[in-house]
Amino acid sequence: MNTADFIFQKTTKTVEKATYTWQTPSNIALVKYWGKSEPQLPKNASISFTLNNCHTTTTIEFERKVNQEKSISFELFFEGKKKDEFKPKIAKFFERILEYCPYISEYNMTIHSENSFPHSSGIASSASGMAAIAMCLISLEKELTPNLPEDFYTQKASFLARLGSGSASRSIEGPLVVWGKHPDIEGSSDLFGVKFPYKVHPVFEDYQDSILLVDKGEKQVSSTVGHNLMYNHPYAEQRFKQANENLQKLSVILQEGSIKDFINLVESEALTLHAMMLTSNPYFILMKPNTLEIINKIWEFRAQTNSNICFTLDAGANVHVLYPKAEKQRVDDFINTELLKFCQKNHYICDNTGVGAQAL
Ligand code: DP6
Repeated sequence: MNTADFIFQKTTKTVEKATYTWQTPSNIALVKYWGKSEPQLPKNASISFTLNNCHTTTTIEFERKVNQEKSISFELFFEGKKKDEFKPKIAKFFERILEYCPYISEYNMTIHSENSFPHSSGIASSASGMAAIAMCLISLEKELTPNLPEDFYTQKASFLARLGSGSASRSIEGPLVVWGKHPDIEGSSDLFGVKFPYKVHPVFEDYQDSILLVDKGEKQVSSTVGHNLMYNHPYAEQRFKQANENLQKLSVILQEGSIKDFINLVESEALTLHAMMLTSNPYFILMKPNTLEIINKIWEFRAQTNSNICFTLDAGANVHVLYPKAEKQRVDDFINTELLKFCQKNHYICDNTGVGAQAL
């Protein structure tokens, strides 16, 4: 598939009115995407676990315009309230995808969206949010051009989501999604995410992610600014190479079930991501003192108990604690007795791997 394949082919079919609701999850990267080129193409391949409980639910009502005015028009409601301050980001997204979905300018759209996690929790809502909008658009497209293969719609949904936010391309399917062309991952592409195509060892099935909410405040540096700082970054080329090598290694680890190697690779990826932030110019730090407290406690616990717990980080201070399902009780006890005190208002979210977008 290439970009031109995603341009909508006009049909004679019209849809006057339609409403779709989709629930789409957040995801947590194991090999990180950090650095991109226009239009939202990754500098290296990445892979993530799709989450289950952290998700966005979005309804879009499409009503065909009576006049033939060709401009993008929509209203946006977040958690029941009109949110004009969120509109520019969505407007930019619609403009970006207009050449692939020209039909959106023929409708008045009303968007209702809500997250299962608190808005200011530091959990990025752009991945789940953009994926949900993309799924609603694809539902309309499916009615307009119903006879295309199912794979096409899934790929186009991920392709559109990617143009909204890179990591959103990995929120359409699950439980493991690769985004970015990689010689070892069959079918992988820079244009959209694909399900990890090989059989995964049972130890990684239903993997758990307890998200420790260390800092719920607004990030000082957005991901978009962070990505841009990878231009002219002294370690960028080496980092992109390393990420691709790590994905190659992780592909084997996931198939063979070597959990100690998984721990080593995933934690190294998280710290490398933050090392890129520490060494960019301007430099910045998104970890907080409690992020480091938690990491040290995890290392201590692992050394003492031989647990398979490990951590990863996204572009923020929160810590994602990853572990096999078989260890859930033990890790829950550990979190409750040792880690909760480092979380804002003792708040953490229990999540696990999920299957991706669901129609409601
Ligand atoms: C650190 O997808 O949020 O979470 O493409 O600019 O929207 P944009 O960035 P975004 O970046 C995610 C960065 C990350 C790593 C990852 O999810 O792979």
